[in-house]
Amino acid sequence: MALASKDLLGIQGMTADEIGLILDTASSFKDVSERDIKKVPSLRGKTVINLFYEASTRTRTSFELAGKRLSADVLNIATSTSSVAKGETLLDTARNIEAMKCDILILRHFCSGAPEFLASRLTSSIINGGDGFHEHPTQALLDMYTIREKRGRIEGLTVTIVGDIAHSRVARSNIYGLNTMGAEIRICGPATMMPRDIERLGAKKYHDMDQAVEGADVIMMLRLQLERQATGLFPGVREYARLYGLSRERLSRAKQDALVMHPGPINRGVEISSDVADGTSVILDQVTNGVAVRMAVMFLLSGGAKGD
Ligand code: CP
Repeated sequence: MALASKDLLGIQGMTADEIGLILDTASSFKDVSERDIKKVPSLRGKTVINLFYEASTRTRTSFELAGKRLSADVLNIATSTSSVAKGETLLDTARNIEAMKCDILILRHFCSGAPEFLASRLTSSIINGGDGFHEHPTQALLDMYTIREKRGRIEGLTVTIVGDIAHSRVARSNIYGLNTMGAEIRICGPATMMPRDIERLGAKKYHDMDQAVEGADVIMMLRLQLERQATGLFPGVREYARLYGLSRERLSRAKQDALVMHPGPINRGVEISSDVADGTSVILDQVTNGVAVRMAVMFLLSGGAKGD
């Protein structure tokens, strides 16, 4: 089985079989990162370019490592030191990159829809590395991979997503994916950070965090995205932490072995306390799994057929 599209633009519209294929392929790549020689020849001769218009540590680095571990040639373009700084448009920048024979272009952009815009105009595979408030598909895939790895399944689990849902592309991609994979999804946050029609996507809305985490199998905390918010969405960071922060006491309301997740970067003491983040959370497992998932995505978009 192969992926239906040349691109990975979002989780919306993906089938359970396609998501399962990516997660299974990631499983087969996971041990490559544990070896002394962390390399397989699967993408030898291919060129991968990271084009990031926003800051990133995890996504950019793990795509770079994933490409290198698959033996691709990988380049990173920092927009601040590229001709983007001279006013070159996104399409012109991407067309010039493609003219140098790039096979896979990973785009992070502050505008929702930017990866789709390029995908319909270029022949290279476009992977969405996070676009505006829209989607962050590889984050949701690595989150689903981590849940499945730790719990053996996704179907039937109760997953509570807490925080700034309205500004979160991570939440949106996870709601699409977890719903497709049969989880029960609860979303929780202040009314000012909750899209009005979010329940139509298949998630139950809560404003009381104690109720939202009660009996949950997985708690996924979101970063308070101060850089994307209009002012005045909540009275203050301290109040937000009191109402929507994950403390050890609040965590005790969830299932005893509940998974605590966060896409990173974390605001310590705001959406998650340090003792929870550094204690039983699986935050760094998510990061580890991000490399295998991104290897799987690039491999499958390049045609698949594993022979290593
Ligand atoms: N989770 C995530 O997207 O992190 P970065 O912004 O560091 O890539």
